[in-house]
Parts: sequence; structure tokens; C-alpha cells
Amino acid sequence: MKSQRLIVANWKMNPETPEAAREIFLATRRVGDKLKRTETIMCPPAIYFAGLAKLASKKVHIGAQNLFWENSGSYTGEISSTMVKSSGGSHVIVGHSERRELGETNEMINKKVLAALKQELTVILCIGEKERDAHGEYLSFVKQQLGSALSGIQKKFVENFIIAYEPVWAIGKSDREAMKGSDMYEMYIYIKKVLTEMLGREYAETIPVLYGGSVSALNAEDILNNGHVNGLLVGRQSLDPIQFKDILTIADAQVKAAK
Ligand code: 13P
Repeated sequence: MKSQRLIVANWKMNPETPEAAREIFLATRRVGDKLKRTETIMCPPAIYFAGLAKLASKKVHIGAQNLFWENSGSYTGEISSTMVKSSGGSHVIVGHSERRELGETNEMINKKVLAALKQELTVILCIGEKERDAHGEYLSFVKQQLGSALSGIQKKFVENFIIAYEPVWAIGKSDREAMKGSDMYEMYIYIKKVLTEMLGREYAETIPVLYGGSVSALNAEDILNNGHVNGLLVGRQSLDPIQFKDILTIADAQVKAAK
């Protein structure tokens, strides 16, 4: 298990200007560079990607929000893993629920995962159910998402793999409606169990699991501490450098406390 915390900022389709993007990035880099055990991964919209990648540092990395599985060709509007890599990116979010909502299937996600790993990008695979049910069907839904995304992956690439559990029902809500740390811990155990079945214990243990969905400075500590996750995937609050600074500081402090 990696002892480092990973905090991923998913800016989604924000902010509206490159000047604002640069300002948010630099403000966060100032904080992220000082943290001892936390790595920050900033995922801006593709149009800002190359400009911001020049500003990436040892502790504050740049990731894409999506990519296409071919390296080049007639695919209007898409970006490839080779483009992400050669523009200075190190990570990519794959399978976000907002993309799944636009028609991305498990099969497409698997192709994206394989293409990204081949370029030695670190994949942040998003999984998560739309809703909970009393019979636990959401568990088999999550298992299926994991199984198909990981299909055909070579074990040597496992170290470039991060799982972000983002239940759709918890995204874009108030922090009170986010998942509680203790509930996240149950899901963390379940994800590790599924990964162990798929890859064996040794590999399963090395894959970090993050939580995403209405994370704020108010619930970050509970989720990190009681959820036992390796980090967070943060949406709206990552666009506000003051709020995001608090989340990053909490994440780093929690690692210190656990030592
Ligand atoms: P919010 O933090 O805005 O709920 O977004 C979560 C998310 O989808 C991050 O990928």
C-alpha cells in the first residue's frame, strides 16, 4: 500500500478562461508543492492542458479528463493517450459517470484503459452505482464495472492504476449528502475483495482507492480517516483554491497523524 495521499482535482468543464485556469493552477501549486506526503493531480479541460502542463511540478501533476483509444486518425474532437503524454500529462481520468451518461460503455472504457496504460499514463478509473438498493445489487454493478474495465490488463501495469469510487448519487450534492467515512470503508473493503479475486492479493493491495462525490473541507477528514481511502477525487471544491487548500492540508495532516 502506498503511504502517500493522492488528491485529484477534476475541473470538469471549468473555468471559462485560460487566465482563470492559470490562476487556480498556480494557487494550488503553491500549496501542493509544500506538502510532504500528498500528491496533487490537476485535471483541467483539454484546451488548457498543454499550457498548464508546463507549470506542473514534482508534486503537482497534470491529468486529462478523458482520452480516445486510437493514437491518431479521423476522430474529430478526440484526444489520444500519445497526445496527453507528449503534452506533459501523467494521468488520465477514465470512465467518469458524466461521460458514461453521454454514452460511454464499459467496453469503450476498457479500450481507453488499455490505450492509456500502454503509454504509461496512470489511469484514474471511475466506478460507482447510480443508486443504492436494499438487495445489494449495486455491489454487482460495481463489480461488473471493475471487471470489464480491467479486462486484458497486464499485471505489470497495475502500479499505474488508481480506482476512484464515485457513487453517482453523491456527486454534485451538499457535503452532508456525501458518503460517510464508515460507509466508504465498507465499499473500500468490497473493492479490494473484487480486485483480489481478479488480480491476486499482492496486486490488489497496491492499487490506491479514492473517494469522490461532494468532497469538501468539512467531510474530507471523516472520509480519509474512517473510509481508509488513499485519497480523494474532488470536483467543485477544486476550483476554489481556498477550499482546495484546506482539503489538501487535511489530507497531508491525516497521513502525518497515522504515522
Ligand atoms: P463534486 O465534488 O462537485 O461533487 O464532483 C465530484 C466528481 O464528479 C469528481 O470527479
